[in-house]
Amino acid sequence: MYQDKIMQESIRKVEAARAENVKLDPRRMTAEEKEQLLATYHPDYRQEQFTNLQMGPNKGDKVPVELAALLQAHSRIRDLTIDLEHPDYDVDVLVIGGGGAGASAAIEAHNGGANVMVVTKLRMGDANTMMAEGGIQAADKPNDSPAQHFLDAFGGGHFAAQKDLLQKLVTEAPEAIRWLSELGVEFDKAPDGTMITTHGGGTSRKRMHAAKDYSGAEIMRTLRDEVLNRGIPVVDFTAAIELIKDEDGKCAGAVLRNMETEEILVARAKTVIIATGGAGRLHYQGFPTSNHYGATADGLILGYRAGAKLLYPDTLQYHPTGAAFPAQIFGALVTEKVRSIGAMLINVNGEAFMNPLETRDVAAASIIRECSDRNNGVKTPAGYAVWLDTPMIEMKHGEGTIEKRIPAMMRMFGKFGIDIRKEPILVYPTLHYQNGGLKITSDGMTDVENLFVAGEAVGGIHGRNRLMGNSLLDIIVFGRNAGRNASAKAKGVTVGKLTLSHVAQFEKELADAGIETEAVSPKLLPDYARRG
Ligand code: FUM
Repeated sequence: MYQDKIMQESIRKVEAARAENVKLDPRRMTAEEKEQLLATYHPDYRQEQFTNLQMGPNKGDKVPVELAALLQAHSRIRDLTIDLEHPDYDVDVLVIGGGGAGASAAIEAHNGGANVMVVTKLRMGDANTMMAEGGIQAADKPNDSPAQHFLDAFGGGHFAAQKDLLQKLVTEAPEAIRWLSELGVEFDKAPDGTMITTHGGGTSRKRMHAAKDYSGAEIMRTLRDEVLNRGIPVVDFTAAIELIKDEDGKCAGAVLRNMETEEILVARAKTVIIATGGAGRLHYQGFPTSNHYGATADGLILGYRAGAKLLYPDTLQYHPTGAAFPAQIFGALVTEKVRSIGAMLINVNGEAFMNPLETRDVAAASIIRECSDRNNGVKTPAGYAVWLDTPMIEMKHGEGTIEKRIPAMMRMFGKFGIDIRKEPILVYPTLHYQNGGLKITSDGMTDVENLFVAGEAVGGIHGRNRLMGNSLLDIIVFGRNAGRNASAKAKGVTVGKLTLSHVAQFEKELADAGIETEAVSPKLLPDYARRG
């Protein structure tokens, strides 16, 4: 498959050095080295790619230019007359989003006795959860503890995580694994029935639980079945395009749009949970993405326009190992598990240039440095990349390990004639996760009363960088949390007269700030056709 001459020459160097490289354990960088590296090479530090918001709850704050354009855009309902008097749906809890967080929230809201409904712009399970590969963290082994998990995640997130949220995440992690197991998730187990756990970047203990490298698909399959088996109504192909409030300013539903017919519908609800996921399909700074087709930051837009504050909207996660070759899988996730079970990052000269289990921001910045200033990248049709030396895995753990532990990776590359058991693969950072999002308190509620958020649309759980496996964990812990609290809260809510006056107010603020734009948001789907 690697027909290019330069690639072939480089592979020969990788092969020649493999027996020595495989014995290495490259030293970890010092805190000072990391800081310097990030400031110079991490995309979050490219000042020209950010701007300060001119209006709204985060006025003055720094955000990526692509996100600013959507936060400061016109509403999709600007020219529409919406009949709020005759809602099409009337529920206790409205969940917006059909991924892992939305499903977990719906299940717990249902357990709480609420009349709950899920709306999703694609189908239940079409979400980043489904695409997660490597695993889910939980400190449930005798040599580990939630406190240790907290320290790893707090340090990895640059000491910026909201401590109460992170504490909740790590202390409820073992219960999240139990809950998923009881629902039917098939985690990898040793013959004696104990869970197989591995390291991820920045973990001091092996606490990554996985279902091979289909962890997210296995979790999403189970959650989706549970939602459907319970008969929780799911309205597919229907996007929320604006939140509705009541006359007291509390969140009270959403305006929906059928993605096929464009019909506008109104859902009245006592409480609303935003679980719309991430933003990779905004392709910040032109990066490819590992994200699902629907990851367009919709929840951030809906929440912001309704008056909810964002936390850390200026920090994104670039997964160090996106597939860089061949073009058909450009940007697709190559799970961190590949490094966690033994593959090392190698440059064009066959040198292992970093410890493969540095945290993600540091690993991504290292690869970018290798491919830019150091001129140590391998030329690809799309730019430069480094090798991830997958044959090392079987040198370390024996034949058959790759097929057993990372079959999805083997298949993804196998389709293009690359046998990852015998040949290394080319990788480069890919846009993977939004570290920031809507600010919540530990009950999952935003600044807007009765508006809850769960999953990747939340900001602050992980600080300014997330460790592997803490996202599958947060969708479960905070999804369930939001579902429980939204259903409990709904019991005491009497919805007043519905209004969209906050949308009119937002449009006025836009004009007052002198912002002239043609953009409308939420975006809903990426616009590849118009990219030309
Ligand atoms: O590398 C991965 O498998 C990704 C995991 C995550 O983002 O948590």
